[in-house]
Parts: sequence; structure tokens; C-alpha cells
Amino acid sequence: QVFFKPIHNTSPPSPTKRHTKISVVGTGNVGMAIAQTILTQDLADELALVDAKADKLHGEMLDLQHAAAFLPRTKILASTDYSVTVGSDLCIITAGARQIPGESRLNLLQRNVTLFEMIIPPLAKYSPDSILMIVSNPVDVLTYIAWKISGFPSNRVIGSGTNLDSSRFRFLIADHLDVTAQDVQAYIVGEHGDSSVALWSSISVGGVPILSFLEKQEIAYEKETLENIHKAVVDSAYEVINLKGYTSWAIGYSAANLARSILRNQRKIHPVSVLAKGFYGIDGGDVFLSLPAQLGRGGVLGVTNVHLTEEEAQRLRDSAKTLLEVQSQLGI
Ligand code: NAI
Ligand code: 2OP
Repeated sequence: QVFFKPIHNTSPPSPTKRHTKISVVGTGNVGMAIAQTILTQDLADELALVDAKADKLHGEMLDLQHAAAFLPRTKILASTDYSVTVGSDLCIITAGARQIPGESRLNLLQRNVTLFEMIIPPLAKYSPDSILMIVSNPVDVLTYIAWKISGFPSNRVIGSGTNLDSSRFRFLIADHLDVTAQDVQAYIVGEHGDSSVALWSSISVGGVPILSFLEKQEIAYEKETLENIHKAVVDSAYEVINLKGYTSWAIGYSAANLARSILRNQRKIHPVSVLAKGFYGIDGGDVFLSLPAQLGRGGVLGVTNVHLTEEEAQRLRDSAKTLLEVQSQLGI
């Protein structure tokens, strides 16, 4: 007895339509915000959730499954066993310690490296062809760690990086100019965190390069105003953590935005954490930090050659140096 009587003369499913599977490791505030954005944006046919806390994980899975009638069809699985992730196209890692108010991201490093030593090997074993997207903090150093542990080629290991900081930056500039953030092209690069670098020289709004526009119109702008906007970006997470204890919604959208570009092969440019050695004069060792990179089905397809002022390039190299110093203390 079958529920549907099959119609035999229908054509088989198109071989070009792929089955897409995303796994999310860590179902805390961030993992669940990412999972629910993936579901509402219809980015996967299958979503696998992994966490160390079995009951919380099971509860989160059921709660999402109960929204089935309101969402596009996605098979949702969950387990503390990594076999549930088998055959993933994209694995998003959000597990780990988060900051308490006032604590820096880099302070989380040792605790989260220990976790990554447990998490990355089974993920790589069950999905050897997948793309890893790291979100746990400090995201740049942990992306380096994930690259080292997985043995994956660097184009398949990506940190969510400053895609989020750049959205905060675009929001603040848009707010300042009273325009929509989607019309603001602006990048924050470097470390996701305290040593991030704002690329003022390449900002444009609706195609108009902002700094040269102001200069041509002889409109004075205060360097201090620009620096305050960047400072507000750097302070954003601290402010939200002080107020609500953690950040979640913006990183949920940011990670889903990256997942879409990767899985739908959009070839879109995002500031994300990539192996940066050799770009923009960054040398001194293997370091992951955010640069504007083109993303598609193969992961990182290339790094854009944005024009940087000498000051911006120097700040970027300083950001790389900060991260390399932290890495060197790990002895990995
Ligand atoms: P949370 O405490 O709500 O969730 C962490 C989850 O990890 C918990 O459910 C915990 O059970 C799980 N976990 C711990 N050990 C595990 C293991 N061995 N295997 C599987 N799961 C394990 O924390 P929240 O707020 O979700 O933050 C998670 C991470 O994301 C933190 O490191 C935080 O700093 C980072 N984060 C990164 C952002 C970015 O832009 N890169 C933005 C916001 C947060
Ligand atoms: C954020 O920027 C805390 O890294 C996290 O929201």
C-alpha cells in the first residue's frame, strides 16, 4: 500500500538538481540562529545538527521540525554522533565557549582549540569533500586550526570573519548618510575583532566613491568621525554582549548569506577569513584573516585586488602580525 499512486510516465528528477546538505555543529545561540536562517531561506534539503548536550539538541531539533508546515521542505536530523553529518556539502562550526561581558575573543582560544581537536577530525572523516565554515571565536585563529587539523585544501576552509563586521559598518554608514545599507559598498578586513581594518578609501554609496566625492566638493570631513564609526563597529559585539549576553541574529544572517553564495555558486565577493599569506604584502607565516574573497561551489575562488592606501595596507599587515603572534603561542 502506498499513499501516492505513482504516475509512471513522468520524467525522472533532473540530474542537475543537487541534494544539498548542511551540518551545524554547536546548537547554542549562534548555531540555532544560523539553522533557522538556513531553513527560512531554503538553503538546504537536509540539515544535520550536532551538539554535546543530547537533551537540548533533541529539543532544538523537535522545535524546528514542528515548524515544518510553515517552511520549505528540509529534512532535519540531530545527534551527538558525527555520523549524522555524513555527506555534508557545508559544515558550519559554532561550538565552543563564548565571551562574558568585557572579555576579548582571543581570550577564548585555548578552550576552543581543545574542542576543535575533537570536532574537526570526525567532520572531515564523514564529509571529506565538504567546505568548512568556522564561526566559533576567535574565528581567524580557529579557521587556521581547522585547516591544519582537517588537512583540507585552503579554498575549502573559510572563517565567517568580517562579513559580519562589514554589515555593521554598512549599517552605521547608511544610518549616518540616511541611505539603505544595501547601497553602501564598504569593507572591514583583517581580524574579526579588535585589530580589524576599515577600508575607507574604497567605500562607495550608490556607485559614488565617498571620500573622493567629499574631497571634490571640498566638503571637510573629520578623520575623527570616520575613526569613531570604525570604533563603533569594533565595540558592537561588546555592547550587544553587555546588553543581552551574546550576539546571534546578525551572525545568523551573515553565515546564511555566505552559505547561499557557496552552495548556489553565486561567485559573490565577501570579506571572509582566508589563507592570507602572499596577499597585500602579508608574509611571515600561514595566517587566516578576512580579505574580500569570491565565493562559490568550490569555496574560495579568489581574492579581490582592492586598492588600499599605504596606511590601510600597513594596518592589515599589523592585524596579520597580531594573529601570527597568537598562533605562535599555540605551538601548532
Ligand atoms: P553557546 O554557549 O550558546 O553555544 C555553544 C554550544 O556549543 C553549546 O550548545 C554547547 O553545548 C556546544 N558545545 C560545546 N562543546 C561541544 C562539543 N565538543 N561538541 C559539540 N558541541 C559542543 O554559545 P554561542 O553564543 O552560540 O556562541 C558560540 C561561539 O560562536 C562562541 O565561540 C562565540 O564567541 C562565537 N561567535 C562568533 C561570531 C562570529 O562572528 N564569528 C558571532 C557570535 C558568536
Ligand atoms: C560578534 O562579533 C561575538 O564575534 C562575535 O558578534
